[in-house]
Amino acid sequence: MHFSIIEKGAFAVLVTAWVVWGSNIIGNTLVHAEPLKTPAYKVGGEAAAETPAKAVETAATGGGGGDALAMLSAADAGAGAKTFKKCKACHSTAKGGKNKVGPNLWDVVGRAKAGVPGFKFSGALKGLGGEWTYKDLDAFLTKPKKFAKGTKMSFAGLKKPKDRANLIIYLRSLSDQPKPLP
Ligand code: HEC
Repeated sequence: MHFSIIEKGAFAVLVTAWVVWGSNIIGNTLVHAEPLKTPAYKVGGEAAAETPAKAVETAATGGGGGDALAMLSAADAGAGAKTFKKCKACHSTAKGGKNKVGPNLWDVVGRAKAGVPGFKFSGALKGLGGEWTYKDLDAFLTKPKKFAKGTKMSFAGLKKPKDRANLIIYLRSLSDQPKPLP
């Protein structure tokens, strides 16, 4: 089979057109793919650094992440009682309950810090002064060793504001006259 000059010419034009069209597509892909790559990666990175749950927590506490006080009115004493399982080994909760490794926690909200008779508090706790306000309980339970440097309470702390809010509301309930919410 023989091609005429015209046929060959037409074929050449076709091939050229195809090559140009094809390289255009490749070119476009490269040009468009590059700038897309960076934002797409960034979004993924942010999502990994801050999970949605964490973001919600941060929003609910007004940022900072250390403050459970804003959540107290919606907190759940029943859930707090469950969280208190972490504390039970060291703390009794009954009125007149005896001190264990840690002091009895009956009526602790509003109580003088380091004020339980018969319990040997550390200098760190005795040095705090004042009463256990909601705010101080929140700070102490977030990271005991940070709030009371040198405390002998061996507890890492509760990172989640919601856990602390529930727990604080539970502690508040350990009283004949629960203190008003802040
Ligand atoms: C391993 C034992 C241990 C665990 C677990 C523990 N505590 Fe304590 N807690 C102590 C000790 C010991 C002290 C006294 C600290 C000091 O004198 O430095 C204390 C002190 C406290 C105080 C201050 C009381 C006061 O009268 O000034 C509060 C409030 C408290 N704990 C709450 C909790 C809560 C709530 C939890 C659970 C989230 C918890 N603790 C877990 C041992 C513990």
